[in-house]
Amino acid sequence: MDQAVDPRDAHAPLTRTWNARAISPADDPGHNGRAHRVVREFTLDEVTGREQLHVTALGIYTIFLNGHRLGPDLLAPGWTNYDARLAYQTYDLDAALAPGSNRLEIWLGDGWYRGQLMWPQSMLHDTYGTRVAALAELTLDGDTLLATGPDWTSGPTPVLRNGIYYGETFDAREVDVPAEAGVEVVALDTAILVAQECPPVQELAPLSPVRSWGEARATSYDFGQNIGGYVAFTVTGDPGARLVIEHAEVCGQDGEIDNSNYRSAPARIEYTLAGNGPESYRPHFTFMGFRYARVTIEGDATLERIEAVPISSVTHPKGAFTCGVPAIDRLVLNTLWSQRGNFIDVPTDCPQRDERLGWTGDAQVFAATACWLHDCQAFFRKYLRELIVDQRPDGAISNFSPDPTRLHPDSFGIPPGSTGWGDVITVLPWTLWLHYGDKAALAEAFPAMQRWMDYLWSLSDGPIILPPPGTVDSGGRADPGFTFGDWLQPVGDNRKPQPTIGDDCAATLYHYISADLVARTAEVLGERDAATRFRARAEEIKAAFAEEFITPSGRIGASDQTTYALAFLHGLVPEQHVPAATRYFRRAVEATGGKIGTGFIGTPAILPALTRIGARDLAAMLLLNRDAPGWLYQVDLGATTIWERWDAMGPNGEIYDPEMNSYNHYAYGAICQWLFESVAGIAPDPDAPAFARVRVDPFVLPELSPVSARHETAHGEIAVDWTCADGRVAYTLTLPEGTEGHLPASPDRSELTLNGTAATAPLTLPPGRHEIAFRIAPAA
Ligand code: BGC
Repeated sequence: MDQAVDPRDAHAPLTRTWNARAISPADDPGHNGRAHRVVREFTLDEVTGREQLHVTALGIYTIFLNGHRLGPDLLAPGWTNYDARLAYQTYDLDAALAPGSNRLEIWLGDGWYRGQLMWPQSMLHDTYGTRVAALAELTLDGDTLLATGPDWTSGPTPVLRNGIYYGETFDAREVDVPAEAGVEVVALDTAILVAQECPPVQELAPLSPVRSWGEARATSYDFGQNIGGYVAFTVTGDPGARLVIEHAEVCGQDGEIDNSNYRSAPARIEYTLAGNGPESYRPHFTFMGFRYARVTIEGDATLERIEAVPISSVTHPKGAFTCGVPAIDRLVLNTLWSQRGNFIDVPTDCPQRDERLGWTGDAQVFAATACWLHDCQAFFRKYLRELIVDQRPDGAISNFSPDPTRLHPDSFGIPPGSTGWGDVITVLPWTLWLHYGDKAALAEAFPAMQRWMDYLWSLSDGPIILPPPGTVDSGGRADPGFTFGDWLQPVGDNRKPQPTIGDDCAATLYHYISADLVARTAEVLGERDAATRFRARAEEIKAAFAEEFITPSGRIGASDQTTYALAFLHGLVPEQHVPAATRYFRRAVEATGGKIGTGFIGTPAILPALTRIGARDLAAMLLLNRDAPGWLYQVDLGATTIWERWDAMGPNGEIYDPEMNSYNHYAYGAICQWLFESVAGIAPDPDAPAFARVRVDPFVLPELSPVSARHETAHGEIAVDWTCADGRVAYTLTLPEGTEGHLPASPDRSELTLNGTAATAPLTLPPGRHEIAFRIAPAA
């Protein structure tokens, strides 16, 4: 089996010296044109099994070696800031080569390199360059056997058109068109090449249709699960017969597939049959976000088989959470699927519409949940490097990364640097520290973090950030300092909207969060001066926040859920205000009848903050609410991934505002972090990260009993099971070797026993299985 070399394998070369030259097909027609390939036949006297292929491309490549598609990796070389960093892959060729003559073909697609990026008002083509090209070298024990260069030939492929958003048009009659044209050597600075840094994108287990409807010539299929991926099918029929496949995440009220929310992304497959018996196909240069597909047949053809094939950079879950409420289990599963569908080389907002960008705010709020569900260390390290490349001279961090607008600033009117979004530069490395003890990530990001802090301070020349008023003008422009605030916060009845957090309050809260994290990072790195400086800055922001946003009677900001959530969670409520602010916080939740009132930045904080104030009743009310806005509303409506908007669909299946509406947006799935850390009660500890020490502090919601959680760490699996009846909790914790648990004293726990014997917290728990029992305080 041809396998990509594990990027984290110590033997994988980080950089290498290249003998190859980058070559572009002579007749490359430019973006949206027919995909071309570069080809070389060559002879090997013997094959040792140690041959390797090192390869990259400007564009996306698919390799055929002796007619067989090479390896399981997809969409390689992946998406990086191609002007600064370009990944190359190394494949062990094993059995793919034969003694005697061999043929290597590299097909080149437009990909992110020069295909459409972004939506019509901001649309870019040729973002990084106009010509696709391949760079490849076949080696044996480090010696070059073959390298791309002027002696290769080129020709068209059967891929008549391709694009990440577009989909693919494939004419199987064109498979054997000769490759007789020449190639053009193009400039490629090999100094920007880096060995593949994260797990490659690969296929997950395919999904068969669970339902189909329509007529034979236009049949719709439901694969039962919204995914990022593509269809694979087998068809028989006449030469020249055609299949057109449209995709959709949802069906409209008429029951037919509706992909109006894809906006300008066609996301279509058009396949023309060769007509030579059963023919199987899956796309080469694209993916879609979909649950449904409609196959229209033109001419005489029969579809023998169709499957939906999810693709992802995260292939093996590392965490699981189940409880006594099936809808919560589905919510967790939906989050897992949203992670899969959006972790396709870059952590994207959504996998379906003409966007699919590495939005930094989304990644920021979701990072911890991502690490609970999958091993994301290498994936996020790569993303972190893109963030660093994209940082502007004034310290602003991009709103999405890789950021195509860095090279084309006029294409998009919103300047980089939104608070809550750019703060990914502090939150993400800290998450990598907590989960993996990745000090190198902290060190690598530290200079960029400090520049981000300077940028934040510069916005209003002080601790209180005053973003420019308004949002975005009709031309899509915003002033520097613009913030997305608590994006997509539901405001309730539009005749009398609920109060929402002000942009100034949100930006200042995040100013504090980042200052605090930079101070902690400096401490870990032993940067004493910086630690003192940023701690002082954090304290200054905290004091200014209290003065500006907290009334003498303890009301904070707009007295809305997000403000209290962030202020309590991050310790911004001074001692003397805690009792009153707690009452106001409770009111902000009760006033909505238990409905969520938070957007992108408030949502991950609200349940952890209610946990902080011990509001078990309100946490349960928000979590278990089945109406919009709330987490379970979408589950009840049959969602299989997390929606972008709380009200993405009306109770009767009405599709809300398709101009900006995704059914696969992981941000609100960030709640899973709380399920692991509070409900299951296991959390990483910054003083002994990577779960060397586990904070054990369950916040028991009896309604969820029985709860079971698993998380695979580098030390082994941590397992929690608890049940709760009549206020008595039986909590079983299993810790692997190399870890130690710490259960703090808590007013919430009484009658504590450990393995049947009365115990007094705090408790230190060695590796092994522990039976802990306690009584929880009755609801407030
Ligand atoms: C994206 C996001 C993103 C937001 C910025 C949207 O179009 O889909 O999820 O964070 O814009 O506020």
